Order: sequence, then structure tokens, then C-alpha cells
Amino acid sequence: MSKINGKTIWLTGASSGIGLALAEALAEKGARLILTARSEATLNELAERLPGNHRVFSLDLSNPENAFQHGQDLVANETIDVLINNAGVSQRSAVLDTDLSVYRQLMEIDYFSVIALTKSVLAQMQARKQGHVVTIASVAGKVGSKLRSGYSGAKFGVIGFMDCARAEMAEHNVHFTTICPGFVRTQVSHNALTGDGSKLNQEDPDITGGISPEECAAAIIKAIEQDRDEVIVGKGLSKLAPTLQRFFPNLVRKLSAKR
Ligand SMILES: NC(=O)c1ccc[n+]([C@@H]2O[C@H](COP(=O)([O-])OP(=O)(O)OC[C@H]3O[C@@H](n4cnc5c(N)ncnc54)[C@H](OP(=O)(O)O)[C@@H]3O)[C@@H](O)[C@H]2O)c1
Repeated sequence: MSKINGKTIWLTGASSGIGLALAEALAEKGARLILTARSEATLNELAERLPGNHRVFSLDLSNPENAFQHGQDLVANETIDVLINNAGVSQRSAVLDTDLSVYRQLMEIDYFSVIALTKSVLAQMQARKQGHVVTIASVAGKVGSKLRSGYSGAKFGVIGFMDCARAEMAEHNVHFTTICPGFVRTQVSHNALTGDGSKLNQEDPDITGGISPEECAAAIIKAIEQDRDEVIVGKGLSKLAPTLQRFFPNLVRKLSAKR
């Protein structure tokens, strides 16, 4: 049975980058999408042009309690087959220059709201004895590097959370796939938070040299279809980094300090 065709998939971060490419590819494969982000007008336009019948469910994920409540309201009227936790915000600022409020903001969006949405769908998935939670973490959730301390912290955390949830839910036939992309050519660096919470609004050469959002979306869909637990997606050093870290941790620490 297809994991995508005919399934209801709740996708966050659908207005841009990886989420937008995922929305296009999933709709093409026959999924019915519930599209989430803050930019309601963009989502409406997207829902209109995608093949199939989709729903816009705009939500600000910077308030996890609010996100949980909205998630519960959604699940009261919808059966969710797959939740894709894709929305996220990155960071470009050194520890000493970063306000505590920025760390909190990164954790609210990249960690607590991911937990909130996952919890909001999980009881239904357990009762139905089927479901799939997909989370777009990052290579930054495997390997620490400069200027991303809050982002990395949130992504490391989310990978650990999903490992625990996978173990708890295995007996209920609820699956968990964690995706760790390396560099992908999206708006991520433009939208990254700096030390005072303002957006970086700049291109990042690492991101420019990354894979396309479409390539990333294709790899994510393959991982969902194959029920993979965790997949590293990307090219070059950003893809190799988690393996290097595992076998040559000192080398990776030295490289991180130099870059
Ligand atoms: N690009 C990369 O190199 C890369 C690498 C590793 C991991 N990732 C991860 O991939 C995911 C997607 O990022 P991207 O690269 O596609 O970046 P992007 O182009 O900046 O897209 C981010 C998405 O998240 C949504 N979002 C941001 N803040 C939100 C909030 N407070 N409430 C609701 N939605 C919010 C945005 O929608 P609105 O602004 O409309 O709300 C947008 O749809 C993120 O989790 C990111 O950490 C990206």
C-alpha cells in the first residue's frame, strides 16, 4: 500500500524551500495536504495550483502551547496519516553575541513546537495503529559548528526526542523518520536569526553550493516510502560530516574550529 497516494499529510513550513518542494512532489504523488506556515496568502496560492484538493492551516509555531491546541483542534476533524515537521529557523551568531531570548525563540520553533505538533497527532495514530511522523532535523543536529549553537542544540534535541518516541510507539505501528539534511539551496540563511533576533538577510555560500530543494524532497519521500528511521541527505562534506564525526571525532572538532 502506498505511503503517500491517498494519504492525508500535514506538512509544516510548506510556504518555502524544502517544504514547498515537498508539497509539490507529494501532491503530484496523490497526497491530500494540510499546508502549514505563517504566510497564509502563499499557502492559499499554493493550494490552488497544486493538483488535488488541499487544506490551508496557517499557524505560528513560535508559541508551542498555542500550536498544541491548534493541533488538537485539527485532529478533532481530520485523520492524519503522516505529519511532516519541516518548519524551522536557523541561526548565524556566536554564543557571546546571542541574546538568551534568541536561544528561547529557536527552541520554541525548532524543538518545542515540533514536540507539540507530534503530541497533538500521536494519540490518534496510536488508536488507529498506524501513522508516520517525519521530522526534518539537520546535519547540525549531529555535528556542532560555529555560529549555530542554539539551532544545533534544538536539532540535537529533536533527534533524541524522536528516537525515544520511535521506541515507545513501535508496538503501536507508528513510524518515525528523521531526516538530517546538509546544505540545501533555500531561504534558510536569509531567515536565520542573528544575535539580537533580527534576520541575517544574506546569502550563505555553503547554502548556495548545496543540493536543490527538489533533490532534498525526493530523498525525503524515498525515506518515507522505505520507512527509514534516519537519513542523512546532501552532498560533499555536509553529508559526510556525521560519519566522520562518528569515526574521527577529533578531526571533525579540529575542522569545525578552523572553518
Ligand atoms: N536549507 C538547509 O540547508 C537546511 C539544512 C538542514 C536542515 N534544514 C531544515 O529544513 C527545514 C526547512 O527549512 P528551509 O531550508 O526550507 O528554510 P526556509 O526556506 O527558510 O523555510 C522555512 C519554512 O519554515 C516556516 N516557518 C519559519 N518560522 C515559522 C513559524 N514561527 N511558524 C510557522 N512556520 C514557520 C516558514 O514559513 P513562514 O515564514 O511562512 O511562516 C517556511 O515555510 C527547517 O527545519 C530547517 O532547519 C534546512
